[in-house]
Amino acid sequence: MSGYPSLVLRLLITFYTALAAAETSQTPLATAGYKVGQLIPVSCLNRTTDTGEHITENGQLSYIPFPPTGGCNETGRPLELVFGVEKDINCTIDFVDDPFFHLLEFYVHNDAPLTCRIPTRPLPPSALKEEYEEGTKDMTEGQGALSEVYTPMIVALTGTLQLSHLHVSTSLNVLVHAAPKSVAPGTIAAATAYSISREPPTRIVIGDALPLHFSVRWYPNTSLPSGWAGVGGHLTFSTLVYCLISAGASAAICLAYFRGVELPRRLKMHGKDRIGGMERGAGLGGYGIANGGGYGYGIGKRD
Ligand SMILES: *[C@@H]1O[C@H](CO)[C@@H](O)[C@H](O)[C@H]1NC(C)=O
Ligand SMILES: *[C@@H]1O[C@H](CO)[C@@H](O)[C@H](O)[C@H]1NC(C)=O
Ligand SMILES: *[C@@H]1O[C@H](CO)[C@@H](O)[C@H](O)[C@H]1NC(C)=O
Ligand SMILES: *[C@@H]1O[C@H](CO)[C@@H](O)[C@H](O)[C@H]1NC(C)=O
Repeated sequence: MSGYPSLVLRLLITFYTALAAAETSQTPLATAGYKVGQLIPVSCLNRTTDTGEHITENGQLSYIPFPPTGGCNETGRPLELVFGVEKDINCTIDFVDDPFFHLLEFYVHNDAPLTCRIPTRPLPPSALKEEYEEGTKDMTEGQGALSEVYTPMIVALTGTLQLSHLHVSTSLNVLVHAAPKSVAPGTIAAATAYSISREPPTRIVIGDALPLHFSVRWYPNTSLPSGWAGVGGHLTFSTLVYCLISAGASAAICLAYFRGVELPRRLKMHGKDRIGGMERGAGLGGYGIANGGGYGYGIGKRD
């Protein structure tokens, strides 16, 4: 009898110990996330300029800081997103050299995608250093490390290819989804970027500057909020206006019908009843006259 409560107690102690152990093992993971405002470096796949093929080093894909021509002219640093901060970022490539121009041709002509990536969680200082320097090492050392995980970000750069030059849509939207805070705080779940045709495409020849404009938006989970409620059947202002207008039109048609068709008929019927009442037994002739003369006849008859 006395063994049962002690077993329960022991189970409880085991349970709480396990819980405490789980919590302490969770802590390093929780602190490994990005803080709002922390910088996230963007790197992209290095490609050969003659075929646009990806370059590998030691069997690993080789990612290099973007832009590959020595950083954005505005900051002198590679392109960086800011965790949880929605902002517009200008990144001008000061001088489009011959190799980069050929890569642009591949991207715009859809021969090769502009394949980029961002660290899913902050990189350890050693890996971060390589992210900014032109280190091509790709997860060869820290392959097992939880912290060196990347999220792909394909940049759909659009434009048109001409004989001597390129037209590039240089305004891009960047969408970044964070993992829900309750699941993995400070962690990136997915990202993408695409050109928008906000203004006419920029004409580019070798030696020009390429002014890129990124509009970055962040989402707190992986579901996309509904952006255009009108089509989905939600009540919007335009739906409301449509309803009001059609209600008004229906009322007008009803009124017109009543005035033009229903009211005369009722008045006619009314007259008929009167005539019928006054000339009881007048027979078909009376009805005929009443039908033809209508209301006026009825009144006249009464006078
Ligand atoms: C990209 O690859 C080319 C060809 O292998 C190489 O010459 C170049 O240094 C690489 N770029 C960077 C930034 O490492
Ligand atoms: C980016 O550049 C455009 C002009 O090209 C300018 O109007 C805009 O203010 C700049 N935005 C930022 C955030 O610097
Ligand atoms: C890039 O920056 C340098 C120095 O800040 C400046 O002289 C140059 O005009 C800039 N280029 C472009 C295309 O804005
Ligand atoms: C995702 O985040 C949005 C806010 O942008 C919120 O309205 C929505 O409920 C969230 N969805 C889930 C499944 O948590």
